[in-house]
Amino acid sequence: MSVLEIRDLHVTVGEGDDAKEILRGVDLTVRSGETHAIMGPNGSGKSTLAYSIAGHPKYTITGGTVTLDGEDVLAMTVDERARAGLFLAMQYPVEVPGVSVSNFLRTAATAIKGEAPKLRTWVKDVKTEMAGLEMDPAFAERNVNEGFSGGEKKRHEILQMRLLKPKVAILDETDSGLDVDALRIVSEGVNRTREEGDVGVLLITHYTRILKYIKPDFVHVFVAGRVVDEGGPELAAKLEDEGYAAYVKDSNEQASAEKAASEVVTA
Ligand SMILES: Nc1ncnc2c1ncn2[C@@H]1O[C@H](COP(=O)(O)OP(=O)(O)OP(=O)(O)O)[C@@H](O)[C@H]1O
Ligand SMILES: [Mg+2]
Repeated sequence: MSVLEIRDLHVTVGEGDDAKEILRGVDLTVRSGETHAIMGPNGSGKSTLAYSIAGHPKYTITGGTVTLDGEDVLAMTVDERARAGLFLAMQYPVEVPGVSVSNFLRTAATAIKGEAPKLRTWVKDVKTEMAGLEMDPAFAERNVNEGFSGGEKKRHEILQMRLLKPKVAILDETDSGLDVDALRIVSEGVNRTREEGDVGVLLITHYTRILKYIKPDFVHVFVAGRVVDEGGPELAAKLEDEGYAAYVKDSNEQASAEKAASEVVTA
């Protein structure tokens, strides 16, 4: 049983006078066995949240806490976070020229487990998982993400998740750019992970179509760097029908009220 706890998280990007607060007090708890969907408008900070948890150096944590089973995630290096059981499937996976998929996966598994996986079982595991994701075995010898199509990159992210067996998996728009068959195949991969073990899943998405396959226990609405509403799966359907306009309006009003209040205080 694992718990990822995010409390009042504040994050900025940029340096000095250019620093801009993107996350403005995020509260979220993901327990193993639970699937949480995060939905929100473009630019609201969803990927920033994912990267901040994973430890991307571009983001500066200015307040709040993130813990995994009580351990301070923010004090960990990126490697330590992965070893602790955190996994991020990126919205825009990066190319790793000169490193084959098979070497990359084995190196990652070695780093996370602290010892190299036994070659024979490992090769078999990779084959099995690639077959499960209907990936051509030839991909194992290609350089990571180099020339991969959008959908192929997403499958490769899920392949990593299948092999690395995280405690908490953050999937940032893993559904974007997938054709209908790939969406089902990738979703089934995520669901196998959910069925096999006690993984907690944080699924960032714009579309309810993936939620037909991966049933969320909770849906969170993310606007302007905060969770502004929470509900069950029915909330996703409502968002798809009505959009975020009402939430954005409320959030803007709250932001101007906060700004006015701070000006009074500092005046
Ligand atoms: N290095 C940076 N410098 C300036 N602004 C940045 C930087 N990185 C992110 N931002 C800004 O932070 C905001 C949040 O971006 P983020 O990628 O987290 O949004 P998102 O909710 O994931 O959006 P989308 O749905 O389009 O993926 C955006 O306004 C973005 O331009
Ligand atoms: Mg994003």
